[in-house]
Amino acid sequence: MGSKLIGYGAYLPERIMTNQDFSKIMDTSDEWIVSRTGIRARHFAGDSESVVDMAVNAAQRALDNAGITINDIDLVIVANVSAELDFPSVACQVLGRLGATGNAPAFDVRGACTGLVYALHCARGFFSAGMHKRIMMIGAEKMSRFIDWGDRTTAVLFGDGAGALIFEQSVSGYSGIIDTVVMADGNEFDMLHGDENHKITMNGPETYKKAVQLMPHAAQYIMDHAGIVADDVDWIIPHQANLRIIESCAQRLDFPLNKILITVDKHANTSGASGVLALAYGLDNGIIKHGQLVLYPAFGSGLTWGAALIRV
Ligand code: ACO
Repeated sequence: MGSKLIGYGAYLPERIMTNQDFSKIMDTSDEWIVSRTGIRARHFAGDSESVVDMAVNAAQRALDNAGITINDIDLVIVANVSAELDFPSVACQVLGRLGATGNAPAFDVRGACTGLVYALHCARGFFSAGMHKRIMMIGAEKMSRFIDWGDRTTAVLFGDGAGALIFEQSVSGYSGIIDTVVMADGNEFDMLHGDENHKITMNGPETYKKAVQLMPHAAQYIMDHAGIVADDVDWIIPHQANLRIIESCAQRLDFPLNKILITVDKHANTSGASGVLALAYGLDNGIIKHGQLVLYPAFGSGLTWGAALIRV
């Protein structure tokens, strides 16, 4: 049993914070941020706008796109690390806010920037075991909650947003979530983490080095496992952390830059929402076409890393 993509949706908060806006409140410049990261702007949620609010907006758009209601979904998985409430899960709150009455199970995965790949990995397993018919996966993050406004190196890197994907069980193994791989190395947990004061703490150069090794490693693993080469892939959507990381990964994999979808300039790093926001942007703008093969490698705090191969 495989799956097919039947709906997607994205939500970005209204407030846009440009690099120029940052340069008015801290010692930084558009030139520094663009040259080191490729980021030009990011969306920030309003003070009273929560991770759940953004997840609900993205989920409703995905349901509308698929032409179904929440009661047609029999599992909800939300990738996030930034929920305001410690419990219950964002996934349960989304079910409630969308008026679900069917008692479908719902849970969160905390894979940080690799969170959506972890969710896709779970979904692939559930589909192949025949356990669920329609799974909604949401990546939703309010990373602005964790910004240390006294640390200009990390403050400029992150943004907020949410995206949702709905997959349905299918007999074809060559559509939907074709393959996934996920890995973790807990020995490096403190390289990038939210500290006890809920602030982002990061060793930037080490994070950079690990990202450019591990994302290509996961992407190559998936291609080898699927018996395909770079030429067979239509689009690569790497986790959108930093343009220099993305370009270095592309070079290591021998992927031409024109096959790489970039949204980090507009959204910055939205952690677990980054890949799905990029995919939705590609589909909405006719860049990615239905039926195309997309490779989605990601890397994040944990350390976690992995990749998913999806026919959209
Ligand atoms: N504006 C201006 N100057 C700055 C800024 C800023 N926002 N931030 C740092 N600087 C200064 C530093 O103070 C330092 O100045 P100094 O030489 O006078 O001490 C100088 O710039 C260089 O600092 P470095 O930290 O060496 O900068 P580097 O070139 O390593 O770039 C960066 C920093 C962009 C964070 C880089 O390490 C990087 O890309 N790391 C990967 C991190 C990343 O993308 N994390 C996202 C989360 S990871 C994930 O999603 C998987």
